[in-house]
Amino acid sequence: MVEQSNNATQLLINRIEKQHPSRIVIDPFNEVQDVTLDVIGKVAFGYDLGIFEKRLLDTSRHSMSFLDALKLTMSWGFIVQSLPTSIQSMFKETKTAVKEVERYMRELVDTRMENLESEKHDLLSLLVSSNQERGGLTDRELMSDVFIFLLAGHETSATTLQWMTYELAINPSVQKRAYEEIVSVIGTDGDISYEDYEKLSFVQACVNETLRLHPPVVGVPKVARKDTTIGSYKIPAGTDIILDIMGIHLDEKVWPEATKFKPERFIEQEKRHPCSLIPFSIGLRKCIGFRFSEIETLVIIAKLIQKYEFVIPSDDPKMNTESVLRGQIPMYQMVTLKPDYLKIELKRR
Ligand code: HEM
Repeated sequence: MVEQSNNATQLLINRIEKQHPSRIVIDPFNEVQDVTLDVIGKVAFGYDLGIFEKRLLDTSRHSMSFLDALKLTMSWGFIVQSLPTSIQSMFKETKTAVKEVERYMRELVDTRMENLESEKHDLLSLLVSSNQERGGLTDRELMSDVFIFLLAGHETSATTLQWMTYELAINPSVQKRAYEEIVSVIGTDGDISYEDYEKLSFVQACVNETLRLHPPVVGVPKVARKDTTIGSYKIPAGTDIILDIMGIHLDEKVWPEATKFKPERFIEQEKRHPCSLIPFSIGLRKCIGFRFSEIETLVIIAKLIQKYEFVIPSDDPKMNTESVLRGQIPMYQMVTLKPDYLKIELKRR
């Protein structure tokens, strides 16, 4: 996974350099989403989803590429699916995209079923094997798990990475310290190894501070299974509860100057309650991919910082308002909470 994250980031850098021979200004989400999708495709499903290189998924029988269909499904698919059927027909392209994603995933699963013995033991093989065992995953559960892993396994990490480019751009002294750490551990060129992860403690702190200030999942719905008392609250069994991740992360009692981006708080750390930082939720159903994401995010951002300095493009009026430069950027909520509009200039080092 470390190798895949390094390789995919290098493919992105190559593409950026090709597309922007002089000045580089990008929409970071669009770019890093391709990296995290490439990584989850290769690591969990053993597939090159055709993002940077040759397409292994056959597009000839489809009306859209996998990537286009997936991106449309994620941006509008959930909203359109929840509309009354009569209104849904007005969103033909989105409906087609949702169907195409299903068909691509079916092909992915069918191909693996045919080659189960010869393929390596990745997540897809585990899911497919379970489907073939008695009492294992049903067809519906299998398809739904493939989709959840594909979605949860890239969108959240990409959102974190785009927030991080923004925070580093408006906090140049933090970015400088992160760059200096990367150069001292890895040098000005070269890949990040698994062993480097522990050594990059300030970059790790930047990832944690980004996840604190901008948790991609702002709240998780739960149901109380039995009568419970929390502090002075009596919660009867069956009560719907929202785990308010954003609320906890911005609590001034736990996080002084909570709205400020201050990664050093994770370095100069006094003891904190284990529930004070919960971007991946907590308990038995905590995100299964949290370690995957921690390492992947660090490798991708470290490789980008090693190559580029992130700055706010000086000629973009939307990015140069007083509030945006102070860290208050308009946001919108789709699958995750993202900036409404974000452009970052990458200055070659
Ligand atoms: C910054 C990155 C990520 C964040 C913030 C995040 C956050 C979360 C949260 C809050 C949940 C809900 C947990 C609960 O119900 O209590 C969750 C579930 C899940 N996540 Fe992540 N996640 C991230 C990355 C990933 C990655 C990389 C993968 C896969 C490799 C992944 C796979 C999943 C799956 C499969 C579930 C559903 C688990 C279940 O239903 O029990 N996530 N994630």
